[in-house]
Amino acid sequence: MIIAIPKETAKHEKRVALVPGTVDKLVEKGLDVHIETDAGLASNYLDETYREAGASIAANHRDLFANADILISIQTPSTEDLDKLKDGAILICFLWALQNEETVNQLKNKNITALGMDAIPRISRAQNMDALSSMSSIAGYKSALIGANELDRYLPMMMTAAGTIAPAKVLVLGAGVAGLQAIATAKRLGAVVEAFDIRPAVKEQVESLGATFVEIGEVNEDTETEGGYAKEQTEDKQERQRSVIHEHAKKSDIVITTALIPGKPAPLLVTEAMVHDMHPGAVIVDLAAEQGGNCALTEAGKTIQVNEVKIVGPVNLPSSLAHHASQLYSKNMMALLNHLLDEEAKPVFDFEDEITLKTTITHQGEIISPLLKDK
Ligand code: NAI
Repeated sequence: MIIAIPKETAKHEKRVALVPGTVDKLVEKGLDVHIETDAGLASNYLDETYREAGASIAANHRDLFANADILISIQTPSTEDLDKLKDGAILICFLWALQNEETVNQLKNKNITALGMDAIPRISRAQNMDALSSMSSIAGYKSALIGANELDRYLPMMMTAAGTIAPAKVLVLGAGVAGLQAIATAKRLGAVVEAFDIRPAVKEQVESLGATFVEIGEVNEDTETEGGYAKEQTEDKQERQRSVIHEHAKKSDIVITTALIPGKPAPLLVTEAMVHDMHPGAVIVDLAAEQGGNCALTEAGKTIQVNEVKIVGPVNLPSSLAHHASQLYSKNMMALLNHLLDEEAKPVFDFEDEITLKTTITHQGEIISPLLKDK
């Protein structure tokens, strides 16, 4: 059984799907690991270390894909690369199947068994496989550092011979995995942090990190799905939420936005009018930039300035911490493989099992994922 790891080809992607510390565990299980030349170079994992861990360096890109029994990557490989896979091969990567119908059809027609790392259910049993959480946590950490870096002020309170500087005020909107890590990082840097999320369950988590939860009365009622995600809100509720956030944004030095609703465009939390009311030098870091943005003026992949306010729209932040992002993804992948492989290291697809059922998008020419079937 050959597990193959390609060098990622997407623009600005520096991560690698398996690191040497995981490769040796797969080799111990009796699997052959093939890795493309320099696949880990951008995240500082060298071919030599992969070789020491027991991997073979593949002769070329085409052979790597053509020989793979299980191809593991971060991003979905290109259409041309998917065509190189053999009939019945297994692919595991971020697939975003709901948004990529053409890719799903290609995988189904080619008889590829495809598993989406983004489709792993958010249940306790699957926590160690949850790559969405590992990557969101990195994005949240990085968002606070970007905010601090773009700000022309200190974050902590500073008592100096030249006088005392008050700590910066940070407002975090959306306190899921990324938002909570943004709060924790801004607190460590000494800022005074406030946060808001429409799911009331989050209040306690925000407070346990030493931040203040912004209360917006009935806006926090009936906001959560059974799966623990946010529900899309009525326009009326969103308007009331924005009017309260407006007052808090005016007083903030950094606003970090992380709000997402699965399968929908990102909710609008920061309007153009709010940006105009923020003080000169304030910074907005919009982690929802790739999903349309939580701020009306965000441009994905750019930092723009509106009046004297900077708006940063970062894309693929996990790649900016490529070494640790690869390590965590690799650990998540290992946990998923441990779940799928039997004692002889052969993959078993038991669709009675919730993790296997929800993570498998296509198998033997059929769509398996209930989310896609019910679409
Ligand atoms: P996400 O990335 O889909 O959304 C980020 C945050 O934005 C969420 O907290 C959401 O409530 C918030 N949001 C949406 N609309 C908003 C609005 N209009 N205003 C303010 N905030 C808004 O969610 P993420 O971070 O991936 O996970 C959300 C939740 O899923 C977690 O907090 C947890 O309850 C659950 N989860 C469970 C796991 C497990 O049990 N293994 C693992 C990870 C997450």
